[in-house]
Amino acid sequence: MAVKTLEDLFVHELSDVHSAERQITKALPRLARAAENPELAAAFEAYLEETNGQIERLDQLVEQLGIRLKRIKCAAMEGLVEEGKEVIDTIPKGPVRDAALVGGAQKVEHYEIAAYGTLCALAKELGYTEALELLKATLEEEKATDEKLTVLAESGGNQRAAEA
Ligand SMILES: [Fe+2]
Repeated sequence: MAVKTLEDLFVHELSDVHSAERQITKALPRLARAAENPELAAAFEAYLEETNGQIERLDQLVEQLGIRLKRIKCAAMEGLVEEGKEVIDTIPKGPVRDAALVGGAQKVEHYEIAAYGTLCALAKELGYTEALELLKATLEEEKATDEKLTVLAESGGNQRAAEA
């Protein structure tokens, strides 16, 4: 289906982020196992749980609006997940890998913050009030997770990596 209207674009972006969230839920257990720092592994596990909730929120929104998602694969998330695999393949388990994993997770967060920011703007424009509330809730979660990752890196993760 071609994207012609703002409604089409909303459905396209929503389908894309739905694919992105599903891809990251598949990658997170591997990222958690690859982390040396138990705090980082726990953060990835919490992030997985949060992402499952975000997918539920997206499904709820789709039902409320009575729309159908398109079967598309988010190419950006595919690339970010691939980079995570590269980190695991090329850096041995330890603080340097952990620093790379945090950086990778923050790239994912920033992608999602941009995606949900766009969806919020589109929902607002289209007058999808209830959808906007759900999208805003996820946007705030993504921002909070990004900040948690920054704290994790600054509270010793990067220092351990520098000493390694
Ligand atoms: Fe997410």
